[in-house]
Amino acid sequence: MGKDVIIACDFSSAEATFAFLDKFTEEKPFVKIGMELYYAEGPSIVKEIKKRGHKIFLDLKLHDIPNTVKKSMAVLSKLDVDMTNLHAAGTIDMMKAAVEGLTREDGTRPLLIAVTQLTSTSEERMQNELLINSSINDTIVKYAKNAKEAGLDGVVCSPLEAGMVKDACGSSFMTVTPGVRFADGEVGDQVRVTTPAKAKEIGSDYIVVGRPITAAEDPVAAYRRCVEEFVG
Ligand code: C5P
Repeated sequence: MGKDVIIACDFSSAEATFAFLDKFTEEKPFVKIGMELYYAEGPSIVKEIKKRGHKIFLDLKLHDIPNTVKKSMAVLSKLDVDMTNLHAAGTIDMMKAAVEGLTREDGTRPLLIAVTQLTSTSEERMQNELLINSSINDTIVKYAKNAKEAGLDGVVCSPLEAGMVKDACGSSFMTVTPGVRFADGEVGDQVRVTTPAKAKEIGSDYIVVGRPITAAEDPVAAYRRCVEEFVG
């Protein structure tokens, strides 16, 4: 499995996204398209970025009844993205249905990863509002195991959780980790952050980096620094 840096393209329009991607004349970074951009521009934004030669992680976090997720994944599969995701809270049945829907006639499919608990959910809220009585770490590990049982490829988690997920699910179970900041950079609204070098040490397979690259004075230099620290 190749380690890579995925740039979170959290822009609200195709215009802003292409203005950003146009800065990269030598490399074709792996990009993440989230709900904001997808809902603003529709499937055409995926096709256009793909046509430019980028790999795409389509971050739409599906969560619905198994039949609906299966049919929706079949639609996303035709967009030829490289990675997509869902909420593990939808149950093992829903995740199995997603794998079925995503798998093309020739047996290939994009990588499919699960969100365990959002990093914005604190243990206190998870217990008091969602009535999950376990610790947040036990919940994350259990949801990761469910995802593995359903045939998924890995989970999205904090780099600080990647080690325990690998311990529970094996080293080939992928961890895709946001919450990455340079040692000398702005933390912003992220709480539990690590550097690209530390994420590599902990065992992340992919880091998802947004503002440290998109808001940098020189985004190409910031991207290269990330790749240098994380991939080496
Ligand atoms: O700008 P920044 O590096 O904080 O962007 C991180 C990206 O990863 C954003 O697109 C954010 O929505 C996403 N993300 C996250 N934490 C999660 C899941 C996704 O920060 N648990």
